[in-house]
Amino acid sequence: MRLDTLHPSLTDPTLAALGFLNEVMGRFPDAISFAPGAPHVSFVDDVDIAAHLELFTAYLVRERGLRPEQAGRLLREYGPSRGIINDLVAAALHTDYGLRVAPDDLVITAGCQEAMLLAARALCAGPEDVLGLVTPAFVGMLGAARVLDVPTVGIGDGGTGADLAALRRECARLRAEGRRLRALYVAPDFANPSGTLMSLATRHELLALARQEDIVLLEDIAYGFTASDEGMLPPLKRLDGDSGQVIMLGTFAKLCLPGARVGFVVADQPVTGPEGTSEPLARHLAALKTMVTVNTSPLGQALVGGMLLAHGGSLTGLGRERARLYRRNLHLLLDELDQQVAGLAGVSYNRPGGGFFVRLRLPVRADDALLELSATKYGVLWTPMASFHLDDSGDHEIRLSCSYLEPAEIVEGVRRLAALLSAVV
Ligand SMILES: Cc1ncc(COP(=O)(O)O)c(C=O)c1O
Repeated sequence: MRLDTLHPSLTDPTLAALGFLNEVMGRFPDAISFAPGAPHVSFVDDVDIAAHLELFTAYLVRERGLRPEQAGRLLREYGPSRGIINDLVAAALHTDYGLRVAPDDLVITAGCQEAMLLAARALCAGPEDVLGLVTPAFVGMLGAARVLDVPTVGIGDGGTGADLAALRRECARLRAEGRRLRALYVAPDFANPSGTLMSLATRHELLALARQEDIVLLEDIAYGFTASDEGMLPPLKRLDGDSGQVIMLGTFAKLCLPGARVGFVVADQPVTGPEGTSEPLARHLAALKTMVTVNTSPLGQALVGGMLLAHGGSLTGLGRERARLYRRNLHLLLDELDQQVAGLAGVSYNRPGGGFFVRLRLPVRADDALLELSATKYGVLWTPMASFHLDDSGDHEIRLSCSYLEPAEIVEGVRRLAALLSAVV
């Protein structure tokens, strides 16, 4: 079988970039790695899985009136494609963000990755429907679009979370071609990989523009929980009220365990059928899901459900302790960069107030060769940002993630990075 006879997504640079990074990490296990955007191991190791499953099973008996054997079976068998923890997630979204969504307006997905795939599949009906991505963007969304053959355009984040003038121009350009910007993927809270936090004013302006141009906003809230209480801004979905312009995408990978593979999509938009019947978009996404992963693992969902119950039914409650560690690491990373890297000619970086990531701009190309040199000679790894863009504007950028490392590793890692940069800039 020849690779060039297979689907083009298999040779897409997005997939190749991740493969290369994993391969480098595998070859240099002792290097300090600023690459993984994974939760800190202490939060992964400490989870008492059995206790949380028990908590959720007891909830099924107490609140849903199931007999204990029925509750036990719910976790072990196939389940409804929409999910089994929708009520808990809907309640958490109300507690945390004041969102009023019914459990039927949600689908519990196999990670946020599946939520992105389902949303893109449902919204983009043909080649004239284009998916926009605020760039640099999480590669999972771009990859999903590639797998689905959904055409994409990048809209720069403009340092404010979205370049609205560029968005307006892109809408006009596509319209002139007989196409439309159907949806825009955006992560307003400390985006991956940029760390950018969209201001409240930009959130309102983006919503106004989305309504004017009829763009569905795919809002990824993955890192919202890392904000301090004062730094937390309302999600677009909340600001949108009832106008149905926003589909919310979420993950429990950073709040619970990535291995549970649980995410969700809130799609409460009413969809009218040929006979005038109306059902929330979530119903249709659940139907699509039956042909993708059938249902999200009930065991994974039960674990997440148990963890939510143990933390007052709140995402921010669940994330509070974690957020403290991530903010500590982020501040340390920024302090170290200030001391060791700030003076280097042509090197600049942003100062996120939350999330896992810092974006560094270099005066040299941040390509595979530089990463190879960094790994072999300096023992430090990072993520080249080229694959997070749809053009070449990320060629000189790297992403540093602070979530996975211990403080001493951050200090030593920045020292090594500074040594590399001093040698090449
Ligand atoms: C912004 C963003 N969205 C989604 C995900 C993936 O979520 P999941 O593991 O639930 O598929 C990630 C993972 O790094 C992410 O950074």
